[in-house]
Amino acid sequence: MSLPPGVPAIEAVDVSRTYQLDGVSVAALRGVSLTVDPGEYVAVIGPSGSGKSTLMHLLGGLDRPTGGRLAIGGRDVATLTAPELATLRNETIGFVFQAFHLLARTSAVDNVALPLVYRGVGARQRRERAAAMLGRVGLGHRLDHRPNQLSGGEQQRVAIARALVTEPAVLLADEPTGNLDTATGEAVLALLEELNAESGVALVMVTHDQEVAARARRRIAVRDGLIRSDTRHDRPLSAGTGRPETLDPAPSAEPRSASGSEPGHPSGGSGGAAGATGRLPRGATHPSGGAGDAADRGAGIGGTP
Ligand SMILES: Nc1ncnc2c1ncn2[C@@H]1O[C@H](COP(=O)(O)OP(=O)(O)OP(=O)(O)O)[C@@H](O)[C@H]1O
Ligand SMILES: [Mg+2]
Repeated sequence: MSLPPGVPAIEAVDVSRTYQLDGVSVAALRGVSLTVDPGEYVAVIGPSGSGKSTLMHLLGGLDRPTGGRLAIGGRDVATLTAPELATLRNETIGFVFQAFHLLARTSAVDNVALPLVYRGVGARQRRERAAAMLGRVGLGHRLDHRPNQLSGGEQQRVAIARALVTEPAVLLADEPTGNLDTATGEAVLALLEELNAESGVALVMVTHDQEVAARARRRIAVRDGLIRSDTRHDRPLSAGTGRPETLDPAPSAEPRSASGSEPGHPSGGSGGAAGATGRLPRGATHPSGGAGDAADRGAGIGGTP
């Protein structure tokens, strides 16, 4: 999805989310304001239970706030029906989760193509775009492997390809390296940073790793359901790739369920280049979205609106 000029990809104003559990209110977020602009690289840090995943679900339209105002792609989510929100998600957001959430009995290429099904893209084009995106994440030689025939790092690459095949404006990643060993996690992180720098997709990533957070150009610290600090740095504080900031908006997206575990799916890339050095295609406009894992438990990663 291409955002109109000047429109933040996501804008949250005094957003809160209170869960009701067995008659008890749990205030997971207590008034959070932030804007995510095209091309940003944002790390979200904070202790366990501080509200990070809740925030990611809201930012991605997998869940709705119980207070405040939230706009995705310039549209106030409170004004949207569930199908409209699902479509907006598919057009604007890509999700990557710690647990990959791939469809187990489905090939890599079909997992990646899934979000395009919801956009009405024809079968042949879906496969082409999915294959190109898998090539982009270095898996052009694994198109027909199923998840259990792939390593953890490869599965996460498939999930990343699925999140980006729709060319979302924002990629939301909730501890994307949490299930990977250090070296594999580092490679996945480098890939995410490269995609952010080259395609212009905004990257918002929850991490428990301070070193990783130090590489982002913006760091948001969450505690007790509030943003405690939100700091920007012209350059990453530490190593990392130090890539230049990319400001072009990129389209796409994917959602996930409020219960946490699903991944979202993105939509799509146009075909094009694959290969590890290729760039993400840009500009296509796609409608709705992804499907997640089977599971896609309900809340949906993007499934059919
Ligand atoms: N569906 C739910 N129903 C009730 N309470 C919930 C629900 N989801 C989350 N919570 C509560 O909201 C708070 C924030 O949870 P959240 O998952 O956002 O934390 P987090 O910062 O992502 O933690 P972690 O680092 O462990 O993933 C926690 O106290 C949690 O128990
Ligand atoms: Mg979490």
